[in-house]
Amino acid sequence: MPTDLSAKPTLVGERAVLRPFTPADIDAMGPVLADPDVRRLTGSVHTTAEAAEADPHLDEPTRRWYETRADAGDRLDLALVDRATDRCVGEVVLNHWEPENQSCNFRILVGPLGRDRGLGSEATRLVLTHAFTATDLYRVELGVYTVNPRARHVYERAGFVVEGVRRAALVFDGERVDEVMMAALRPQWLAAHGEAASGVSRPR
Ligand SMILES: CC(C)(COP(=O)(O)OP(=O)(O)OC[C@H]1O[C@@H](n2cnc3c(N)ncnc32)[C@H](O)[C@@H]1OP(=O)(O)O)[C@@H](O)C(=O)NCCC(=O)NCCS
Repeated sequence: MPTDLSAKPTLVGERAVLRPFTPADIDAMGPVLADPDVRRLTGSVHTTAEAAEADPHLDEPTRRWYETRADAGDRLDLALVDRATDRCVGEVVLNHWEPENQSCNFRILVGPLGRDRGLGSEATRLVLTHAFTATDLYRVELGVYTVNPRARHVYERAGFVVEGVRRAALVFDGERVDEVMMAALRPQWLAAHGEAASGVSRPR
């Protein structure tokens, strides 16, 4: 079992495919990253005005970033592709890897062309399945702002558990926003979701 994140799998679900970024996937990330809701809900900006003013074309450093993701052994970045259209509508990331702790962070963003159709939920499940069955990760954690109940719902359904709150972690439009910290641990997650993850149904 790999002890780093250098393997770059293609993970196939019913509605979503997670794959290493192709040139077309990279092009599609421009409008995704410029989407005001993505910018607001990921805490990338601090005002509604800032959220609305992004260029939908990737700058060269960002393009180069995506082009080099396949070479990174300490993190996993995959395009989230809508199987219905073969279009990249977002991304999933395992980052902040701590090998000694067998721990990392998860984040996901889905642009307007992909949202609210089950793609984010399936992608989250696919990443956790990969993390806990194909790597030695024991802990996958994330943070979600309290202004984002949709994301929290998706994470809870996928098996993330609330661990605490970073109070006043973000200032947006002058308001202080809390960040809820969540994590999934391998044993509990496999006990609850392992059957579905393995695709094997056990007799009851
Ligand atoms: C959060 C995100 C990843 C979810 O992915 P998605 O594909 O849009 O979501 P899905 O269609 O898979 O599932 C949405 C679920 O949230 C529920 N939901 C929608 N709005 C909700 C709300 N306001 N409160 C609670 N639940 C809500 C839906 O009913 C659905 O649940 P169900 O499957 O149990 O019916 C995606 O919307 C996204 O990236 N948004 C913008 C950026 C972002 O928020 N990133 C996460 C930062 S922590």
